[in-house]
Amino acid sequence: MDESNRKIVIFDTTLRDGEQSPGASMNLQEKVQVAEALVELGVDVIEAGFPIASPGDFESVREIARVVKGSTVCGLARCVNADIDRAWESLKEAEDPRIHVFLATSAIHREFKLRMTQEEIIARAVAGVERAKGYCANVEFSPEDACRTEIDFLCKVVEATIAAGATTVNIPDTVGYTTPVEMTKRIRTLIERVPNIDKAIISVHCHNDLGMAVANSLAAVAAGAGQIECAINGLGERAGNCSLEEVVMAMRTRRDLFKVDSRVVSQKLVPTSRLVSKVTGLKVPRNKAIVGQNAFAHESGVHQDGVLKERTTYEIMSAESVGFAKNDLVLGKHSGRAALADRVKSLGFDLSKERLDEAFDAFKRLADLKKEVYDADIIEIVDEITGVKDRRPEVDWSYVSYDLKSGVGEEPSVKIVLSRGGEERVVEAKGGNGPVRAMFDAIQKVVDFPIVLKEFKIEAMSGGSDAQGDASAAIGVPNSTKTYLGRAASTDVFEAALKALVDAVNRVERERVGA
Ligand code: KIV
Ligand code: ZN
Repeated sequence: MDESNRKIVIFDTTLRDGEQSPGASMNLQEKVQVAEALVELGVDVIEAGFPIASPGDFESVREIARVVKGSTVCGLARCVNADIDRAWESLKEAEDPRIHVFLATSAIHREFKLRMTQEEIIARAVAGVERAKGYCANVEFSPEDACRTEIDFLCKVVEATIAAGATTVNIPDTVGYTTPVEMTKRIRTLIERVPNIDKAIISVHCHNDLGMAVANSLAAVAAGAGQIECAINGLGERAGNCSLEEVVMAMRTRRDLFKVDSRVVSQKLVPTSRLVSKVTGLKVPRNKAIVGQNAFAHESGVHQDGVLKERTTYEIMSAESVGFAKNDLVLGKHSGRAALADRVKSLGFDLSKERLDEAFDAFKRLADLKKEVYDADIIEIVDEITGVKDRRPEVDWSYVSYDLKSGVGEEPSVKIVLSRGGEERVVEAKGGNGPVRAMFDAIQKVVDFPIVLKEFKIEAMSGGSDAQGDASAAIGVPNSTKTYLGRAASTDVFEAALKALVDAVNRVERERVGA
């Protein structure tokens, strides 16, 4: 990394705005695991949650504040005393805490949501910053919907909140409406017209409704912003936030242009993306820039030929620089423990000897079922073993076995054995329009709340007729718009389907008991 490049503060909001993605809820343990991965990744600020939102949010911010060392931990609050007090309560044990207060400033929000005048908004924003400042030196203020706020008023709000003590002023494009040209102009105007702007870092927080979140964030940085708010895999409200991996790699790959960089350890991008995808259940599209499975795959003969002759003919970054394994040599039943250990390490995992032994046993079992074991298979094995999934034996159902009868013109029937807390339950169902429906109906009998199946998908995890089936299920509960996502893989597609359904049900169970 060239030290002469201006360092941009990377503010990750995967655990706050990212968790607002439909279906992306995480439990406390999962949030701590993600926070630890973000520290390793080199993120400067971790927005851990919105503590007043729920007791679960409060607890997770508090736990992350306790355990995280090496990154700032931030909690969100409206400009309301109770929010700010609660945020501080959750953050006070952090090594380096930040309170992030926000208040909407655009005419639409002032008129219809807040019913407040411009003067009242400034007074409330200043009071919020001052209250937060009473607790903590590091205070960020966000004028929500800043990109649709009249520029003269925005300048006044920014000046007043900096005077009140805000050390970072964030300019959110809350509804993903702005464009790179407009963003450049807005940031430049703030720099030119706000007299005390040099007393704070200017930040941006771009939503992706028009697919321009990364471009808008880069435009802001080029115009002088010093912090980018972003999320792993671009998670976030609606179409999501600026994707961390994309914006970081754009700055690094085009240092010649932007003359900026970050502390991010790019080799950890893929492992972190995978972890977030696992714990949220939200899959990364194959063609997603930087971390998608196809991001470095060359299909056309002309491209393959070019890359074999000289990689840079068709690659602007190397796959290893973002954390993909060095080579994709497939492992099989004759591969030994050392080969597996090497691959596990190059995939970004650090396993103890015991865990590696377990992984090796699982690998051998899988290699008996399929000829070639790919990276995706190994990641699945490691995730099972390290317990990214199924970590609450007292709350979670785990799948034991199934017996399915189905055929053309035949009514499907299934018998499933599940266990929880050491006790087994056998449930059966018959009928419906296919085996997945029958499985779902059987699972419904084991849980004591109604569930609806919103979506179910299964696809091959890799090439080959013996590929593992990668199943994902989205379920809902009545009177709630929330979606609970489950995922699982197996060489037996019905087993994968069943495990994915159980995984989704477990997410509801955990939320119900606050686990
Ligand atoms: O999108 C937004 O405006 C936000 C703020 C709370 C920063 O998420
Ligand atoms: Zn947002």
